[in-house]
Amino acid sequence: MQVLGIESSCDETGAAIYDTECGLLGHALYSQVALHDPFGGVVPELASRDHVRKIIPIVREALSKAQVTLADIQGVAYTAGPGLAGALLVGASFGRTLGHALNIPAVAVHHMEGHLLAPMLELNAPCFPFLALLVSGGHTQLVKVIELGHYEILGESLDDAVGEAFDKTAKLLGLGYPGGAALAKLAELGDANRFQFPRPMLDRPGLDFSFSGLKTAVVNVVNQHPVLDHQTRADIAASFQLAVVETLMAKCRRALQATGMKSLVVAGGVGANQLLRQSLQELADINVFFPRLEFCTDNGAMIAYVGAQYLLKNYANDLSIQVYPRWELFNSSN
Ligand code: KG4
Ligand code: ZN
Repeated sequence: MQVLGIESSCDETGAAIYDTECGLLGHALYSQVALHDPFGGVVPELASRDHVRKIIPIVREALSKAQVTLADIQGVAYTAGPGLAGALLVGASFGRTLGHALNIPAVAVHHMEGHLLAPMLELNAPCFPFLALLVSGGHTQLVKVIELGHYEILGESLDDAVGEAFDKTAKLLGLGYPGGAALAKLAELGDANRFQFPRPMLDRPGLDFSFSGLKTAVVNVVNQHPVLDHQTRADIAASFQLAVVETLMAKCRRALQATGMKSLVVAGGVGANQLLRQSLQELADINVFFPRLEFCTDNGAMIAYVGAQYLLKNYANDLSIQVYPRWELFNSSN
């Protein structure tokens, strides 16, 4: 079965064709980062309008890269939440309507379920059950993935998501938005031991996270330096990144020990962070799986993959066009 997947939950328009027998056939992505950059964050109204402008060209590009036509598609999957309501409505309206027009089933996909299962797109894919560290701009969660649609949240951030902490720190260092990748690049030039930032919640039991205190610690250091020279900015970036990675590592070790799991999946935009990837790979006796870099951040391929799995089980949505800007992962099974 060939499934068209559509992603439009935030500032990326993505489309992909996934074949349940041959795997991913092609995908296309358009990022609105340059559009939102002057505003220092995503402007929801501009995001929706840009999705409207780009969705048809991006779907056409994905079809052409996959060397298929709409006549070959047997199902449509679209992100229905969580995310920005207006942005979600563009992909959901397009996907649900296209399904109706082609007389094929359409299925609403949970964006985070897409991230969680993105490593399944790789040749070296994990087998159920596994532990997942989901680290994106809006979420930081440790999830026990039992099987498709069956997830147990073991711990999550009580305040800022880790990607949000990267973005806020990057903004303080004048790195633009979203600044996670730019901060990681700057950190390569810095001394990670110059500033001792906190490793939040490690002194408490459990698997929850908290990153707002870490951000405040960075604000305090920035305020102590009326002039931030390039080396100090790099040292702050490196020290911040090390504090985040050590915190995530410690919680992963704890979760692996508590669950006895031997496979760990790292997904979401912060999963692109090289220090995090390297550090996790060093965990003893554990198989670690990552999506390829381009599928760590938002994309249509992960939505096509998850949608295809539900369509194979004959799950499909009715003709109503519904989006869920706030949608808990554990309610995601259709
Ligand atoms: O998963 P994603 O594309 O969107 C959400 O669903 O939120 O994640 C975006 C987040 C942003 O906060 C971005 O700064 C962060 O991922 N990010 C990174 C890196 N690349 C992207 N954070 C740290 N290091 C990176 N290399
Ligand atoms: Zn995402």
